[in-house]
Amino acid sequence: MEFLFRFTLLLSIALTSSLKTLDSDQELQDSGFGQPPPRHGLKLLQWYVQSCVDNNMLALCDPTKGEFGFHEFLNRGPRHLLPVIKDKKQYKYFTIGNLNAPHAKDLPYEVRKYYNHSDPDSNKDRVLVRYNKNNKRIEEIYASAHYYAKETYRIGPNLLAFLRHPSELHIRKVMYRKVMYF
Ligand SMILES: *[C@@H]1O[C@H](CO)[C@@H](O)[C@H](O)[C@H]1NC(C)=O
Repeated sequence: MEFLFRFTLLLSIALTSSLKTLDSDQELQDSGFGQPPPRHGLKLLQWYVQSCVDNNMLALCDPTKGEFGFHEFLNRGPRHLLPVIKDKKQYKYFTIGNLNAPHAKDLPYEVRKYYNHSDPDSNKDRVLVRYNKNNKRIEEIYASAHYYAKETYRIGPNLLAFLRHPSELHIRKVMYRKVMYF
C-alpha cells in the first residue's frame, strides 16, 4: 500500500510540467536568464512585455503574421517543453527571438546589438507565448534559453507587472529616498 502511494506520488510529480515560474525581478535576476551580453533574452523580454501586449494582454504584435520574426512553436518531442495544448483550434504557441529569422531586423537595436554570427550565446534566448486566436490575447509568456527545459520559465503575473513599468517603480523608489533624506 505504501509502495503504491509512493509510486503514484512519483508518477504525478513526473507528469506535472516541471517549468519553474519566475514571479519577481529578483527571481528573474537569480535565474540568469538572458544576461549578461551577448545574451539578448532580458532585453527581448522587456521589449516584448512593454511593446507587444496591452494591459489586457491583447496582442499588439501579431504572432500569426510573423512580425519581428515570430513563428509557431510546435511543442513536439517526447518531452513537451510547454504544457500540451488540447484545443489546437483556439490556442497556439509562438516563439520570438531568433535574430536570424525573417523580420527579426525589425526588433529594436537594444535587442539586436550584441548579435555575433560566431557566438551562439548571442542568439539562444527566446520568448514564447500562448496565443488565443479567438480573442487575440496572450495567455502565457515564457522565457527560454534555446528550449532547454531547465532554462525555460513561465513568467508570473507579478514579474509581468514589474516588467511593464520598471521605470515607474524606479521613480517611486527615488522619490521615497528623497522623502527619507529631506
Ligand atoms: C564574436 O564571437 C567570436 C567567438 O566567440 C569572438 O571570437 C569574437 O571576438 C566576437 N566578435 C565580437 C565583435 O564580439
